[in-house]
Order: sequence, then C-alpha cells, then structure tokens
Amino acid sequence: MAVERTLSIIKPDAVAKNVIGKIYTRFEDAGLKIIASKQVQLSQADAEGFYAVHKERPFFNDLVKFMISGPVVVQVLEGENAVLKHRDLMGATDPKKADAGTIRADFADSIDANAVHGSDSLENAANEIAYFFAQSNVYSR
Ligand code: PPS
Repeated sequence: MAVERTLSIIKPDAVAKNVIGKIYTRFEDAGLKIIASKQVQLSQADAEGFYAVHKERPFFNDLVKFMISGPVVVQVLEGENAVLKHRDLMGATDPKKADAGTIRADFADSIDANAVHGSDSLENAANEIAYFFAQSNVYSR
C-alpha cells in the first residue's frame, strides 16, 4: 500500500473542547505520523480561499464564519493509505450519521461544528497541504 500525505484540521469547536491531544492519539494509534503541525487563527480570506470549491453551496458563509470563530490546529499526516484512513477515523460529515468510535461521533455536536476536516483525495491533499505549509516545514521521517 502506498505511503500518502493528507491535510487534517482540528476545527474551532474541538480546539475549544480541549481534545487536541485525544484526536492526535487517534492518528498515532492508527499509524499516521504528524509530520507538520501548527495552531492558527484563520482570517476570513484564509477560510474563503480554503473552501473556495464550496462557494456556491448554501452553507458556505456559515462554514467560513465557523472556521474563523476561534483557532484551529492544522497538520499533515503521513502513512499508508493516509487519505482514506484519516477519513475513516473522522467518520461521516454529519456526526449523527458517523459510526461509533469515530472522531466526529465522539467529539462533534452538529454538521456545522463537526470537529475535524480531512482531504478527500490525494490530489486535494497536495493542494491543501501547500495552502498551509511550505515544503521546508514538512518533515518526513
Ligand atoms: S465532504 O466532507 O467534503 O465530503 O462533505 P460535504 O458535504 O461536501 O461538505 C463540504 C464541507 O462543508 C461542511 N458542511 C457544512 N458546513 C456547515 N453547514 C452545513 N450544513 C454543512 N454541510 C457540510 C462539511 O463539514 C465540509 O467541511 P470540511 O471542513 O471539509 O469537513
């Protein structure tokens, strides 16, 4: 299986709940390495740029408003099959539909405040990683 990289964001609701470490443990226990990380307060322009692909969707403004409501923690995860593995760890977008034991089932309150983001393809992962990190700040090991 191929070693991949994916972009993960711990959203403002989960940061406010003080569960950064619990979420990191899930990544590490699943064999994903955190090869870059930073805590940032996104600006409106940052969030609009990141979610530009969703700009025509009805929830776009709410999503941007939520993502700038507090700091987020952004990381690059590396490991075998990382994109899909991370999506499985997160669970469904709507926490009410997420499988038991997933991050969203355990830490998210609603589809608007759903704890985590993860790239949905290898191609998007490369673009999203480049959006947040210079190559020189990503340390493969
Ligand atoms: S996904 O994860 O991209 O397959 O899900 P999708 O349904 O396409 O949603 C895209 C992102 O929008 C968020 N979302 C919402 N935000 C606010 N309100 C509503 N109703 C809503 N529905 C979806 C969803 O969490 C996705 O954000 P990220 O950050 O990618 O998880």
